[in-house]
Amino acid sequence: MKILVFGSFNIDKVYTLSHLPQKGETLYCGGYEVHVGGKGLNQALAFKKAGADVYAAGKVGADGDYLTDYLASGGVDVSLIDKSGEYTGHTIIEVDPDGQNQMILFGGANREITAEYCDKIIEENKDADLILMQYETSCVEYMLRKAHEAKIPTALNPSPYVDEVKNLPYSLVDYLILNEYEGAQISGETDGEKIAKALYSMGCGSVILTLGSEGSIFYDGAQLAKASAFSVNAVDTTGAGDTFTGYCLYALLSGEKPEDALAAASAASAIEVIKKGAAETIPERQEVLEFMRIQGLSY
Ligand code: RIB
Repeated sequence: MKILVFGSFNIDKVYTLSHLPQKGETLYCGGYEVHVGGKGLNQALAFKKAGADVYAAGKVGADGDYLTDYLASGGVDVSLIDKSGEYTGHTIIEVDPDGQNQMILFGGANREITAEYCDKIIEENKDADLILMQYETSCVEYMLRKAHEAKIPTALNPSPYVDEVKNLPYSLVDYLILNEYEGAQISGETDGEKIAKALYSMGCGSVILTLGSEGSIFYDGAQLAKASAFSVNAVDTTGAGDTFTGYCLYALLSGEKPEDALAAASAASAIEVIKKGAAETIPERQEVLEFMRIQGLSY
């Protein structure tokens, strides 16, 4: 299975805090760590660990070689990644004792992607089984249109949510994968099932919606499948959605039943949140299988 991940590569600067700061508040932090991250990087690694052949596309600056090296050491093909004169994207991530976070995102090189670069990526990868993108890079709508023209199946994780996300051409999206907040903003609904159905009616092929502790939903117009979330002691939820995305799409593309794909993805993201970091804590497939076996589930 050849997966093209067109996405962002970020340096994650993680600050551990007693609580998330209020407006005007100055806080000392209890810890500071630098991790590799970015939704594109995290999702590429999750897809790879799930079992796919993954090709990453996007841009880093001169300060971002170690992100590319990290992806390559994880078995992801990085030959399509281009260099930009801008700084590499970075994220300031504040984490509270419950593992909840808030972020400031500097797009940097991720926002320097041009139509010419997209044309080249599509031209050279028409044999991809899927192109997966998020909303941290420039040219997302352009890439969706080009991929559709080239008949490459598309998956979109419209994250982080900004107002312009509402205007994307959802009829060009084969798999829409997002969280409850993003789904509610785009659809105007608040109930999980209603969100999934409303998003489907915007023209996507399949909708995969995560609902935090309430689990996840799959809807493709014919089937409505659900899975529960696993209860674990979360230390850092950064990257949980990306882990879910890679594992869920891999399972669906492999022909697994939607409820099994949701369960496997939930297991993978449950394992991811029990340690600090994003990309570095995405579990290997074997760990996910073992976790599920202990829960009496198979995948
Ligand atoms: O989804 C988690 C990611 O979002 C982090 O790694 C951070 O870089 C931001 O892009």
